[in-house]
Amino acid sequence: MTDAPRGPRPTDPLIALRPWEAPEVTSWGRLPMNAVDRRSGALPLDGDWRFQLLPTPDAPVGGSWSTAHVPGVWTMQGTDDLPQYLNVRMPFPDFPPNSPAANPTGVYERAVDVPAEWAGRRIVLQVGAAESVLLVHVDGRPAGISKDSHLAAEFDLTGLVSAGAPSVVRLTVVKWSDASHIEDQDQWWHGGITRSVLLYATDPLHLADVTVRTSRDGSLRVDCRVRDAGGALPEGWYVSGELDGLALTQDAEFDRFNREDERVSDFLGEARLRTVVESVRTWNAETPELYDLTVRLHRADGTVADTSRQRIGFRDVEISGRELLVNGERIFVRGVNRHDFHPLTGRTVSYDDMRADLVTLKRFGFNAIRTSHYPGDPALYDLADELGFYVVDEADIESHDHAHEIADDPRYLNAFVDRVARMVLRDKNHPSVIVWSLGNESDYGANHDAAAGWLRRHDPTRPVQYEGAAKLDWAAAGDATDIACPMYAPLEECVAHALSGRQTKPLIWCEYSHAMGNSNGTLADHWAAIESTPGLQGGFIWEFWDHGILQRVNDGRPVGRGGAGLYDNGVAAPGHRWAYGGDFGEADHDGAFIADGVVFPDRTPKPAMYEHREIAAPVRIECFRHEGIVLGNHQHFRGLDWLAGQWELSLADGRTLTAPAELPDLRPGQTAAVPLPFQLPEDGGEAWLTLRVTTAGDEPWAPRGTVVCVPQVRLRRAAPRPALAVPNRSVEVDDEGLLVHPLLTAAPALSLWRAPTDNDELGGMAPRWRDWGLDALVRKVAEVRRSEGRVTVHAEYACAAGVVRHVQVLTAVEGGIHVAESAELPEELNDVARVGSVFETVAGLDLMEWFGQGPWESYPDRAFGAPVGHHAVPVDELFTPYLRPQESGGRHGVRHFTLSAPDATGLSVVLDEPRQVGVSRYRAADLTAVAHHDELVPRAGCVVHIDAAHRGLGTASCGPDTTASCLVTPGVHRWSWTLRAL
Ligand code: GAL
Ligand code: MG
Repeated sequence: MTDAPRGPRPTDPLIALRPWEAPEVTSWGRLPMNAVDRRSGALPLDGDWRFQLLPTPDAPVGGSWSTAHVPGVWTMQGTDDLPQYLNVRMPFPDFPPNSPAANPTGVYERAVDVPAEWAGRRIVLQVGAAESVLLVHVDGRPAGISKDSHLAAEFDLTGLVSAGAPSVVRLTVVKWSDASHIEDQDQWWHGGITRSVLLYATDPLHLADVTVRTSRDGSLRVDCRVRDAGGALPEGWYVSGELDGLALTQDAEFDRFNREDERVSDFLGEARLRTVVESVRTWNAETPELYDLTVRLHRADGTVADTSRQRIGFRDVEISGRELLVNGERIFVRGVNRHDFHPLTGRTVSYDDMRADLVTLKRFGFNAIRTSHYPGDPALYDLADELGFYVVDEADIESHDHAHEIADDPRYLNAFVDRVARMVLRDKNHPSVIVWSLGNESDYGANHDAAAGWLRRHDPTRPVQYEGAAKLDWAAAGDATDIACPMYAPLEECVAHALSGRQTKPLIWCEYSHAMGNSNGTLADHWAAIESTPGLQGGFIWEFWDHGILQRVNDGRPVGRGGAGLYDNGVAAPGHRWAYGGDFGEADHDGAFIADGVVFPDRTPKPAMYEHREIAAPVRIECFRHEGIVLGNHQHFRGLDWLAGQWELSLADGRTLTAPAELPDLRPGQTAAVPLPFQLPEDGGEAWLTLRVTTAGDEPWAPRGTVVCVPQVRLRRAAPRPALAVPNRSVEVDDEGLLVHPLLTAAPALSLWRAPTDNDELGGMAPRWRDWGLDALVRKVAEVRRSEGRVTVHAEYACAAGVVRHVQVLTAVEGGIHVAESAELPEELNDVARVGSVFETVAGLDLMEWFGQGPWESYPDRAFGAPVGHHAVPVDELFTPYLRPQESGGRHGVRHFTLSAPDATGLSVVLDEPRQVGVSRYRAADLTAVAHHDELVPRAGCVVHIDAAHRGLGTASCGPDTTASCLVTPGVHRWSWTLRAL
């Protein structure tokens, strides 16, 4: 390694320009963006670079060097500049376009040995992504400037480096700038280089860009732009192309037209290739068929000067009326918003991680991604093409805190157009990209229209969306969106809009069903409406990840890249936790609002994912008629041949019968009746038929046998229960009228409280519940009446909002105690979390087995994906470790359950009807008292909740609450259950 050159000094032209406070300067010396993939054959420059962090961009370089890994943000690599989480608010008070004087600036430097065989070639440096301003120097000489933190910047270094000799490349990354104001996305703030850096060489005569246009009829057009680094193009060059080995045809007419019209000067080289593929295999998210396209640029002697390879797909996207069509089909958009996130790197996501993200999504029924709120790594789009996702590709523009000022500010005009254009120029050839997005939460102004104008001219083949330009307001819809893509608009409003007769654009929520904590209530209601209402086509759940950064508890530092293995199943290893806003000592932060994904920070799926998987089921049980079961294919392009099935019959008496299932040969949209696979036994009580659907063979995203969905139908209702015999035995209660039972350490009492979910807190319910005092009800026994084999206890639970009368009738029955309860809630308690009983058991009961919905967590408004059956889960695993502890682990529709020790002793509870049951190691108060999962201390016994009514989860942390039918209302609630020893 050669000695570091001195500087850049304040006299350095790049520093002197102060580009971090000049929004008009989007780049200097940066090459135009293009779609030619240069990754293969390049010299990777990833790895350790020497590094120093300056307090300001113009501070002298010269202190001591440490090391930083590239790609990687310095905020996760041991510096004192730590991550900060803010949603809307900017992390500094300066107005756009200004940035604060204290402005951490990272200087990355390394020697690069330019290969000797690159002599005479054009040498280009590519920096995958750097936030937020990148300055490039080579051997102390300025090479370029770039902004736009989530797209690559390329610089022609040909005149600055020498083949066969080392050069020192310095990348200076300024954290805060005018550009920060348009990168105000809801995520952690970091600083650094977040994507790979590489160096590549081309012939001076090179492919400057390749633009592919395809259609589902098999037609292909490839437009090639050729440049020569020497200036004018040499005579006689030409391009050739191959698609899966078959030669493409030169478009002679295009050439003639260019010549005759003198459209093309000596400096501009353009060529067009064409073909029509017979019996083309079209691309869609279900069957993502790809073809290999190779384009070669030839010198006059026929030798190859440059090659571009890409995988392309044949498909059409169009909007017809208020329908978004892919290959003529009104697809459903089962989407999720995806940020670049990783708990160890903060922002850098490897190829394997991206693949794992998409594989997880595929396995849970998602078919679409919005790249919220900036373009992803190039590999993400390759993977989306390959695995099958519809992508809404979003430009890196969010000016949330200063949205109104910036949308019409001409100083930012260039940046808006630049960011949209560069995204389109890079990603235009991906079949997965079906919609362009102008960005997020930046109000709506002339700068958007300018970007949309450029885009529509450049790529007329795809629709454009921008939430800020339309909302639901069809009359005022601007020119900048072809899709009404509201965020969190209530379902009823969207349905009303679709039924109004005035809808002019497809409605696809850009964000809905906010997944913060224990959430995603009413997801099934949304999809029932989407699938039955023309004009509604789906949406993107907010969001994929919980952005919890793995943090050491003792020193509060991010663990960083070395932390693999320090987490499992959604939980950080002892001594560690998932940090959210405020955990790095930030003075200003937005707390746990950053933990709002459908997967934990280690990509473990939350229970909501199973709900989604079932909602997206490709094959469904339509109904049960006397002649059999009607199955339907709910896909848009695929048959059922990739699926295998098994029937299961679950009987309330404990039996589960299985039989192989033969799936009928159904085209999309078709249904067929299949015979009932079982003779329903006369006895056995309530009966449920489940079709367990798995992959029949290996899919690129799932090995053979992966569960795809578990549709089910009830074949028989529960029989009325016989009256329980009352044996001649007494029931023991203490002086307070509380049940005394050898298996219980706390007797059944009334509960109206749950550890508030994030939705409860941010939706304003929990503060109300606290004001009412529901978290600290004061019980007073009013009367204890004893008769033979029966005790009736009248109690009053007092809170600030009134008194709840509670009656418990405890009756000795065969083998146990029957508990019949009622609670009368005064009118003031018009919306509470639950009405039910809570009790605690002795230690050692480690296994819960139940007949009801499961096996995963379910709640009244998130129970569609939890089939009724016989389930068994260790008590410790019932709990879902949401980052901020809250109500969790509930099971919906439980008919009866047991809690048992390894020696099969324990207790059983039979419920009067399917109820919400929660079994946990924690009291609601334990969960409420702490801020992070690692602070919880599990109890030895079980805390058991049996609810007469339990409030739905809704999504009120950002968006609509649960539906009226899932609220717990005042009046009399009755429930009963029978407790027995096993
Ligand atoms: C939206 C925004 C997202 C995120 C979400 C709440 O308003 O577009 O970036 O902030 O709300 O989690
Ligand atoms: Mg925002």
